[in-house]
Amino acid sequence: MNKKTLENTVSKMMSEPKGLLAMDESSPTCAKRFASVNIEDSENNRRRYRELIVTTPNLNNYISGAILFDETFHQKMSTGEFFRDYLEKIGILPGIKVDTGAKDFANHPNEKITEGLDKLRERLGEYASHGAKFCKWRAVITIGESIPTNACILSNCNSLARYASLCQENNLVPIVEPEVLINGSHDISKCDEVTKASLENLFEQLDIHNVLMSGTILKPSMVISGDNNKSRADVSTVAEMTIKRLSDSCPNDLGGIAFLSGGQSDDEATSHLNMMNKHNKDLPWRVTFSYARAIQQSALNAWRGDDSNQSKAQEILSGRAKACSDASVGNLST
Ligand code: 13P
Repeated sequence: MNKKTLENTVSKMMSEPKGLLAMDESSPTCAKRFASVNIEDSENNRRRYRELIVTTPNLNNYISGAILFDETFHQKMSTGEFFRDYLEKIGILPGIKVDTGAKDFANHPNEKITEGLDKLRERLGEYASHGAKFCKWRAVITIGESIPTNACILSNCNSLARYASLCQENNLVPIVEPEVLINGSHDISKCDEVTKASLENLFEQLDIHNVLMSGTILKPSMVISGDNNKSRADVSTVAEMTIKRLSDSCPNDLGGIAFLSGGQSDDEATSHLNMMNKHNKDLPWRVTFSYARAIQQSALNAWRGDDSNQSKAQEILSGRAKACSDASVGNLST
């Protein structure tokens, strides 16, 4: 592990006023997103869509790193250039999602365990040799009747720590993502309680596995009411409770924090981030975004697979990326 290399990558990823763009939907997830706007699911359409994203004018003013799926990492653009090389050329660090998905957790109905540790060392070596600078692993924690269980939290956090230490062995910055799902009718205090348990377990496991904190980025969900809760907490409450949770549960030497959007509307995802950054100027780490849907969805809706909609879709994408960037420094105009 080269501490300097890892810290240097972290500082590029966390540079102001930028954040991360998650465009690492697995092929089945991408198929779902395409189906919602009647786009045929094919490798060529996935390439066309991702090419539209990365060639959006001025994207590099707002985005410091892009998380790719394996197919895109090894794919060439219509120009014949690899996506990963094009991104590096325009100053956006290429990253790669390396987990192989959240699967049913044996003996634990309605819970998931993320897989992907088998042969991970070899896969990471290959990604690094092709220019990847960072990785992502997503664990899923579901709130429901008698869940999450300790077993689910512990097993997922243990896998995240094993993944993170293998990444650092290969000088790749690990993004550790313990996503507490927004789905449900729970209130914000329940979300806070589960987020606390998840973060505390995660940092304990990372510590046990000697993971370098300054070479690690946390990708958390916000502390927020369930999407079916009848009286959802307002923007200030979400911002305050999220910052309090992170301040209480994350070590000061953590490299940085970049939220997922997790099914929030575009406006919610930017307003919450803006409120956090507007009122908290002296946090020990940068607090930014690593959104997929809250950057991409409105552009995908406008594109619908039709080349004649490309510039409109790119304009929308650029607008979303700018709004997220403004929110990441507390400067979003409302
Ligand atoms: P969303 O922002 O759509 O939640 O996706 C972020 C992500 O990368 C989930 O792993």
